[in-house]
Amino acid sequence: MAMEIIYTQIALKEKRKELKDKSLQVGFVPTMGALHAGHLQLLKEARKENDAVICSIFVNPIQFNNPTDLEHYPRHPEQDIALIASYCDVLFMPSAEEMYPNPPQETYHFGKLESVMEGYHRPGHFNGVATVVKRFFDVIDPDIAYFGEKDFQQLVIIRKLVEDYNLRVKIQSINTVREDDGLAMSSRNKLLSAQAREVAPFIYQMLQQAKNLKKEKNPLEIKAWLEEKFNKNDFFTLEYAQLVNAQTLEEVNAYNQAENIVACVALWLDNVRLIDNITIK
Ligand code: PAJ
Repeated sequence: MAMEIIYTQIALKEKRKELKDKSLQVGFVPTMGALHAGHLQLLKEARKENDAVICSIFVNPIQFNNPTDLEHYPRHPEQDIALIASYCDVLFMPSAEEMYPNPPQETYHFGKLESVMEGYHRPGHFNGVATVVKRFFDVIDPDIAYFGEKDFQQLVIIRKLVEDYNLRVKIQSINTVREDDGLAMSSRNKLLSAQAREVAPFIYQMLQQAKNLKKEKNPLEIKAWLEEKFNKNDFFTLEYAQLVNAQTLEEVNAYNQAENIVACVALWLDNVRLIDNITIK
């Protein structure tokens, strides 16, 4: 079927009912647009596992804690539409007024999960993410929703949201898609200068080297090693480097403290804030 573009929640609800009446299994991929191969990977997985795929493109204003970041966030809807036309059946592109006719009042609490890393450095960010994702889930009632490991903390928080509200949606995570030189694909990469883009692969190189240091260094030593590498490189301003328990996001200082450990970094390069992560254990 040709991709249908829907702009209102009411029309989307009707569409959803139509799909339900046909007993079609629905996969949902929420995005903020400026789509790249990472987003496409989510859509491809959704296509494989479902009868119908719904994608949303909505630059969610309430998850931006920094107004300049929201203002500069890349937007090219025409290009996005052309790119995904063959990957999804329904594209939901609401306006901010459509999603938020009134200032949203929801507050979500994720305990320790939101007091660290992105939650700590971007106050209100995850409340904004949870608000919009919960509203999407309520309207779309997807069978499976797809999230990238690139935004590792977001993935953990969405899983918690689903658990806390006993939602029936299954959350499917997708490996980080990278450029050939290792840079994690991100809509924000488009904001990098040519020079910054050239040095950006350093981020993943350091994460890979950090992983290889596992035999000789404990998690705290690896964290210190990462901090030193980024602090010594004039192009980068490190916000944090942390090795965390993949389930609780608590920082670990020994390998036996967690079943799975992920190293997460956030840094500034050329006035652009980038995040990345690698599984250490
Ligand atoms: P956005 O940054 O557009 O990302 C949409 C989805 O694509 C997220 O699940 C993200 O983790 C995934 N993604 C981004 N880059 C990726 C990559 N290189 N490899 C694999 N997956 C990748 O995340 C958001 O939008 C928003 O917070 C949203 C969930 C839509 C709520 O507004």
